[in-house]
Amino acid sequence: MSTTSTPPALSIGPIALDAPVVLAPMAGITNTAFRRLCREFGAGLYVSEMVTARALVERTPETMRLIGHHESETPRSVQLYTVDPKTVGDAVDIIVGEDRADHIDLNFGCPVPKVTRRGGGSALPWKRELFGAIVRRAVERAGDIPVTVKMRKGIDDEHLTYLDAGRIAEDVGVVAVALHGRTAAQHYSGQADWDAIARLKEHVTSIPVLGNGDIWQAEDALRMVEQTGVDGVVVGRGCLGRPWLFGDLAAAFSGSDERHRPGLGQVVDAFRRHAHLLVEFFGEEDRACRDIRKHVAWYFKGYPVGGDARRALAAVESLQHLDDLLGELDRSVPYVAEGVEGQRGRAGSPRTPALPDGWLDSPELSDAQRALLVEDESDTRGG
Ligand SMILES: Cc1cc2nc3c(=O)[nH]c(=O)nc-3n(C[C@H](O)[C@H](O)[C@H](O)COP(=O)(O)O)c2cc1C
Repeated sequence: MSTTSTPPALSIGPIALDAPVVLAPMAGITNTAFRRLCREFGAGLYVSEMVTARALVERTPETMRLIGHHESETPRSVQLYTVDPKTVGDAVDIIVGEDRADHIDLNFGCPVPKVTRRGGGSALPWKRELFGAIVRRAVERAGDIPVTVKMRKGIDDEHLTYLDAGRIAEDVGVVAVALHGRTAAQHYSGQADWDAIARLKEHVTSIPVLGNGDIWQAEDALRMVEQTGVDGVVVGRGCLGRPWLFGDLAAAFSGSDERHRPGLGQVVDAFRRHAHLLVEFFGEEDRACRDIRKHVAWYFKGYPVGGDARRALAAVESLQHLDDLLGELDRSVPYVAEGVEGQRGRAGSPRTPALPDGWLDSPELSDAQRALLVEDESDTRGG
């Protein structure tokens, strides 16, 4: 495979990565258990699921658990969601003062109605000044810790924000920006717009630009780099149930065409290891078993595992139960390319974003909107 289109080594500020690859933050997924599993296969940066700055400042036990890292995880990345410059400053103070991460990513991509209705996530960069104030504050407080921004194209096709936001982020000292090539209105529907990623790369010239959206296998990542010129890729849904994708990505970017083609036995082993790592993460077998259930369909997608076995796994109750169920699968089943490769995870259809009253009337924040923003930053599940 040709290496001519591969980007140079990617650095996130002072952090030199061993591959230009980032595991996308995914709420409910990219906890330390899943990050460790992915890292065992590959290279690059592995970002925690988002936590709200407010919940971090309040030190809610769930948030403190979510930002935790295993000692093998280095560099450590934490993603913050916020709508308020002061709160983000306080949250960054905690991270830096207590040495809780080596990199902070700011979430401006979440399209979940509960979040955008309050002006947060992908709705926020529309208010340029507020966006700039939040990012500037985070960068100032972070000191030597690099800060990045992850965003969508905008609210909808008539209200694109990514070019302005990219430039603002660059100006206030962010070390890299990542673009998911969809608007909030698109949610996860349709195809990610890689042309927009290419435009951002042309527009933001002094820091790395990372592309995100619809990388299902290593070849897609190479294609994105070639088509858009980005400095690195951010991979989300493609690795659900396929942590070895990070091995493929590392191989692809080093010019090798070696790929993981796991037979069912290897899938079983990874699934089992994931469950065990979740027990460590939650500190509770019961909770880990409930959590691993949502991964069943992803791991076994495409493999000839019958409906009864899938249903039983999706109701697994203990590690012993898990071993019993996995023991019934035929480990000798080989890789099944057609069923395994391609899209997985959330898709859905476009929808009109829920926004605060009059949000789109002006890129300036009104007093009423400002009041709304400071009220609620309760724990939320990202996207
Ligand atoms: C289950 C799930 C949870 C997500 N949670 C977050 C999150 O916490 N923070 C964030 O910035 N993006 C989140 N995202 C968006 C992903 O990081 C990524 O931008 C998106 O899935 C597009 O990339 P992909 O096509 O590689 O999946 C989430 C996506 C999914 C599917």
